[in-house]
Amino acid sequence: MSDINEVGATAFFIAGIREQEKDREHPLFEDPYAEWFVNDEIRAKVRQVFTALPEGMELVRYRSGLFDDIIRREIGNGMRQVVILGSGFDMRPQVFQADGVRFCDVDQDAVLAFKGRVLEAHGVTPCAGIPCNYLEVDLAAKLVEAGFDPDAPMLIVWEGNTMYLPEELIHGFLNRLREGIRSFRIAFDFFARSVIDRTTGDENITATTDAFENTLKVKWLTGFDDLSVLEERTGLKAVELGSLLDFGKRAAPDYPTDIPQLELYLYGIMSHGEG
Ligand SMILES: C[S@@+](CC[C@H](N)C(=O)[O-])C[C@H]1O[C@@H](n2cnc3c(N)ncnc32)[C@H](O)[C@@H]1O
Repeated sequence: MSDINEVGATAFFIAGIREQEKDREHPLFEDPYAEWFVNDEIRAKVRQVFTALPEGMELVRYRSGLFDDIIRREIGNGMRQVVILGSGFDMRPQVFQADGVRFCDVDQDAVLAFKGRVLEAHGVTPCAGIPCNYLEVDLAAKLVEAGFDPDAPMLIVWEGNTMYLPEELIHGFLNRLREGIRSFRIAFDFFARSVIDRTTGDENITATTDAFENTLKVKWLTGFDDLSVLEERTGLKAVELGSLLDFGKRAAPDYPTDIPQLELYLYGIMSHGEG
């Protein structure tokens, strides 16, 4: 675990939140595997950030539920290839395994190696994996090497990643995907710019952002208010735009109405080709 860098280490923290979902009265998702990636040190960090600012924890819970919902819906609509980009300890390849549906994890070498060791220790065979910095490789070619059919549609799940990347790199990466993959949908989350810039005027939101960055020693760099700039700069088509609050309203009978960040934490689905 010591060779995993700070951005990679955020995956442990997310697992530390996900493992607690089973204790909720109304769970938003099921991830029986999350606890495999968590130790007491990680639990202490999760407590450190959220004891004072419990709202922050809700964002990851609602985000996890949202992406489960998207993956379930897409597979239900016939999607047979799912790429989990910046996968960390996402276990959806196991949670959503189904005949004829192929999954592939993409993450840094050290993260995938650690995940592989944990899964094997529990007798679970990992799905296909592409260890790489996805900003620096020809991902389309690597997916073909991993057994993906370049002529069939793909769902690319890009959860908990965009905020760590400079905006220009996001544009360049999405352009390369569009040039290299015939037909895909990409689903991703992002904060409104005011959260990143600390201009919401809400001290609690700024304190949550600061606590997350300071404890995990990472920086959130990029936010978007909608998908218009991404449409312009990447040629992808916006298919869906919403917030975690929208998801909460449709999926959680007890969604909180007093957490303004839920409305400022957005998600988008963009498509290329027939995707
Ligand atoms: C916050 S975690 C999110 C993990 C997972 N998607 C989730 O939501 O639980 C971010 C993950 O993305 C990976 N990641 C970020 N940038 C990456 C890059 N350029 N190449 C490969 N992996 C990357 C990190 O290593 C880390 O595992």
